[in-house]
Amino acid sequence: MKIIVMETTEAFDRQGALIIMRQALKKPDSTFGLATGDTTRNMYALAAELHRELGVDYSLCKSCNLDEYAGVSAEDKRSCRYRINEVLLDKINIKPENTYVPNGLREPPEEELALFKEKIEKFGGIDLLILGIGTNGHIGFNEPGTPLDSSFRIAPISEKTRKEKAALFGGSELVPKFGISMGIRDIMMAREILLVAKGRAKAEAIRSIVHGPMTVDMPASVVRLHPDLVILIDKDAASLL
Ligand code: F6R
Repeated sequence: MKIIVMETTEAFDRQGALIIMRQALKKPDSTFGLATGDTTRNMYALAAELHRELGVDYSLCKSCNLDEYAGVSAEDKRSCRYRINEVLLDKINIKPENTYVPNGLREPPEEELALFKEKIEKFGGIDLLILGIGTNGHIGFNEPGTPLDSSFRIAPISEKTRKEKAALFGGSELVPKFGISMGIRDIMMAREILLVAKGRAKAEAIRSIVHGPMTVDMPASVVRLHPDLVILIDKDAASLL
């Protein structure tokens, strides 16, 4: 495991963007796995800027998001699809048909799981997965208690996480109760994981990845087993290491 601690938020965002750019240069037909959320927003915006300024080419790349809110449409500004398009995918030269975010409106939602799995297989697996983390250690929508061998799933979103996502939805009661998510096993199948976290509230979860114990109560703790893991954090998230 490699841990990169950045002094400032700006340096953190820039480092994340450089890692994305490096992956596209190293393997022009890379498949990216993408988390959404506050932590990744600026790094994606900077990666898009680097594409514009330096001509980093994504024309052969593919992307697959980690998750989507169940019952939320791609056109809804709060959906993972809308937000990843807005900040990154619409701003680089990746082909829209080479991007995938689970469809939050598919009925029954279970049908989406097979499509999600198929798509990642068709894309040749994930080369670089950019993974956020919740304060309770959730990864994707895999909340505490999720079995470590879980695969593509309709995942209940905990009350704690719904409170944390309240600002996005205009109230915690408006946050969907379920997400469509890669499971923990699917996350571990990525060839490389870049786990990103900022802020004091994430420090305990980061400590559990680095020092353990490994437990289903802190789903992220299992990523320490990944053979190619980079943890990119700011000083506050590193404060308990
Ligand atoms: C989002 C996702 C979530 C977030 C996590 C952290 O696609 O998979 O697990 O990564 O909730 O979110 P932020 O970065 O907003 O703190």
